[in-house]
Amino acid sequence: MTELHPDIDRILITEEEIQNRVAEIAAEIDRDYRNSGQIVLIGILKGAFIFTADLSRKLTVPHSVDFMSISSYGDSAISTGAVRLILDLRKPIVNQHVIVVEDIVDSGNTMSYLYQTLMGRKPASLRTCTLFKKKRNSLDVPLDYIGFELPDVWVVGYGLDYADTHRTLPYIAALKKEVYS
Ligand code: IMP
Ligand code: MG
Repeated sequence: MTELHPDIDRILITEEEIQNRVAEIAAEIDRDYRNSGQIVLIGILKGAFIFTADLSRKLTVPHSVDFMSISSYGDSAISTGAVRLILDLRKPIVNQHVIVVEDIVDSGNTMSYLYQTLMGRKPASLRTCTLFKKKRNSLDVPLDYIGFELPDVWVVGYGLDYADTHRTLPYIAALKKEVYS
């Protein structure tokens, strides 16, 4: 077994488990949008860029891909609740079937902001997809496609970072608590 980076506590989800689950989500979306014509996937940068790419390549329904970039104010491991739009879509989504693709939902503030913002643009429909979700109770936004539930620890890999590091790991790993707290 290859050695883990010293910041990493343990691997939570293997590369194979992630790839299998992404294929299952793609199959679900294929089924749900079989008769919808062209749909739009909106990947949320930077964290969801790898998930969006893999999901897109596994979908068989016709779709386009666009991106938005969102930033939370403040420290990278503590969400203050304030969300800021850094980069907007290239094209309008009015009358389009849209799926917003996130890496991870924690407090839900980011997804809630995205949901409100995108609904305001009058798409034909809007669904949410996140590969990971931490176990919290009070989310005010519907999550239509969820890959995995995770414990309340900071995770990295498969696009997710800590201070812009560890994004390219093919698996999901928990950081050691002393690294981020
Ligand atoms: P929320 O707004 O509290 O739901 O936080 C969502 C955003 O925080 C995600 O889009 C991620 O960018 C980031 N985030 C939350 N938890 C983690 C984590 O464990 N690792 C990496 N990024 C995370
Ligand atoms: Mg994110």
